[in-house]
Amino acid sequence: MSVRTILKMGDERLLRVAQAVPPHRMATPWFAELLQDLRDTMAAASGAGLAAPQIGEDWQVVIFGSGQINPRYPDAPIIPTTVLVNPIITPLADDLEAGWEGCLSVPGLRGQVPRFVRIRYQGLDEHGQAIDRSVDGFHARVVQHECDHLIGRLYPTRMTDMTQFGFNEVLFPELAAGR
Ligand code: NI
Repeated sequence: MSVRTILKMGDERLLRVAQAVPPHRMATPWFAELLQDLRDTMAAASGAGLAAPQIGEDWQVVIFGSGQINPRYPDAPIIPTTVLVNPIITPLADDLEAGWEGCLSVPGLRGQVPRFVRIRYQGLDEHGQAIDRSVDGFHARVVQHECDHLIGRLYPTRMTDMTQFGFNEVLFPELAAGR
């Protein structure tokens, strides 16, 4: 078990385009340790997702979902626990929808971010098996957010209305009061 330091916005390692994981490196202790560090770090921070670049690992690996309600997003639907390697995202419609996002690399803040409402995502799971899912809503938002980390994008750079950007405890005092 290893809870790693989460890099914060301003760290240039968050701006890199991550490398694809070669399939032959997936069944290795190195990869198992990388996944465990991601899981431990996400759990310690109660994150909805975490991307390898956020712990300084320059690889196309994201994890998201917990199979249960996330205390940082108590109203969000449950997303299955997923490891997604070398992802490809394809929008299934042109519609964009704005919704609140936060990021462990941008602590204390939330912003309204337009995202595709419906997407298909493909990639590999932790065993190297193909993942191919079509999803919408919050699930689609989380995947787009996490995969953006793999191309060096943090959510503020996707925002179109900077008046909808602020501190958690100001925007959502009811949540801050509850914890
Ligand atoms: Ni993030």
